[in-house]
Amino acid sequence: MQLSGTNPTPDGEADWLSAYRFGMRVTEQGRVVAIGDGIVWIKGLPSAAMDEMLQFEDGSRALVFHLEEALLGAILLQQSASLSAGALASRSGERLGIGVGDALLGRVIDPLGTPLDGGGAPECDGRRELDVLSPPILARNFVDQPLYTGNKIVDTIIPVGKGQRQLIIGDNGVGKSSLALDTVINQKGKNVYCVYVAVGQKRSSVINALEVLRESGALAHTTLVVAEATAMPGLKYLAPFAGCAVAEGWMWQGRDTLVVYDDLTTHARTYRELSLLLRRPPGREAYPGDIFYLHARLLERSTRLASVHGGGSMTALPLVETEQGEIAAYIPTNLVSITDGQVYLDQNLFAAGCLPAIDVTRSVSRIGGKAQHPRIKEEAGRMKLDYLQFLELEVFTRFGSQLEASMEAKIRRGRLLREIFKQERLAPLPIEFQLAWMVAYNEGLFDTLALDTIAPRLGNLARCVAQGSLSLGDSREAWRQAVTGWLQERGTP
Ligand SMILES: Nc1ncnc2c1ncn2[C@@H]1O[C@H](COP(=O)(O)OP(=O)(O)OP(=O)(O)O)[C@@H](O)[C@H]1O
Ligand SMILES: [Mg+2]
Repeated sequence: MQLSGTNPTPDGEADWLSAYRFGMRVTEQGRVVAIGDGIVWIKGLPSAAMDEMLQFEDGSRALVFHLEEALLGAILLQQSASLSAGALASRSGERLGIGVGDALLGRVIDPLGTPLDGGGAPECDGRRELDVLSPPILARNFVDQPLYTGNKIVDTIIPVGKGQRQLIIGDNGVGKSSLALDTVINQKGKNVYCVYVAVGQKRSSVINALEVLRESGALAHTTLVVAEATAMPGLKYLAPFAGCAVAEGWMWQGRDTLVVYDDLTTHARTYRELSLLLRRPPGREAYPGDIFYLHARLLERSTRLASVHGGGSMTALPLVETEQGEIAAYIPTNLVSITDGQVYLDQNLFAAGCLPAIDVTRSVSRIGGKAQHPRIKEEAGRMKLDYLQFLELEVFTRFGSQLEASMEAKIRRGRLLREIFKQERLAPLPIEFQLAWMVAYNEGLFDTLALDTIAPRLGNLARCVAQGSLSLGDSREAWRQAVTGWLQERGTP
């Protein structure tokens, strides 16, 4: 508590004295009790609230994360080397926010909005709080427009709609990030702004992602929010919320956005680390009890807004890592139940060279089908049925038993399909091509081909589709005739 009055002016001392009024200004001042591992314990700020920013005398900043009767725990966001026990702390009365707007496109920032790419501070249009409530139900619309990933299997069998939350799940190193980056690249020229959130990744991985986006011309519509592996745990914890806030800024302006959270396993581990350091009681797998709430709160903010609110959307692609393909572990099951479907990447398929290693039997999209174009849906339905039958029948071939001719034919067609599904990374494909190969497959136009001639044929078909002028709205007969002609075209064997 301190006494204060108005300041004297040099030339009017008498005026100042006559105008002087005593008043009381009450400020709270806390002191750091202990500090370490990205956590700071403070005494003496009785009115501090959860999620409030605190400032220290040396310029360090922290976020209130844990309240006890006479003690509060905060996570450090900026720490100077001189911060130590005994330092003074004061409240800011503000919650944490981040600048949002088009100035962030093509930039790499940390979760506080500080540029990491060596450029100047972005001139943002406004600020958004990192942690806000998700849009109410009445402000939301149905997911009924497709968001194309450019992936052959996802766009046909596990479709994603604008505003959907689709989990990408799989073991370490099976191509999760590649699939997410492909989707970001595929949004080029489609008027979808993207945010790629890298949580706790090595610097080399972040640079790799940045280079991939830059080389493919996708950086112009993308913002990277990065908290590296060496960043303070507080920043890693905040990164997904910061990315979400940036996308939300565009969504409320009526834009379509896509956010990739790479990955939420690391995020959950960071939250567990912070919670244990703050002595919160551990629950299953030592995660705090509110870990489900944390991720649900984040992912619930992805939605498609009703047209009265501008009709913007935020599609979320959270990534989660499994161990030994175990999707029943705590964090994966939580996320599977929060999201609207999952793309499951399988270690065995990866090892067998079936890339992308998407396991069709364990992947699902619960709402994306409603957003799919009817023509794609019709062709994909037939093709998927063939593939599922093939997977069942293939088991018999392991015993080397003699099969009926009709079964042999089905197995052959299934193997063709498996070959067709193969796709290089960083090579997203347009939806018209997906329709073309499905029509060709369903019409049996590939049936006589040897497996090793499939890839060049598809390459040729993709070129013909790009040069042709057919669109999804054209009749099936038009597509059938065109595809038949294209596949007979010489050029590649
Ligand atoms: N479709 C593909 N074709 C060829 N190679 C691929 C394909 N998808 C992924 N890869 C390769 O697989 C490796 C792992 O991919 P990626 O880094 O995307 O996996 P991840 O699941 O994100 O790994 P981590 O768990 O380490 O983050 C990379 O070397 C990548 O080049
Ligand atoms: Mg990865």
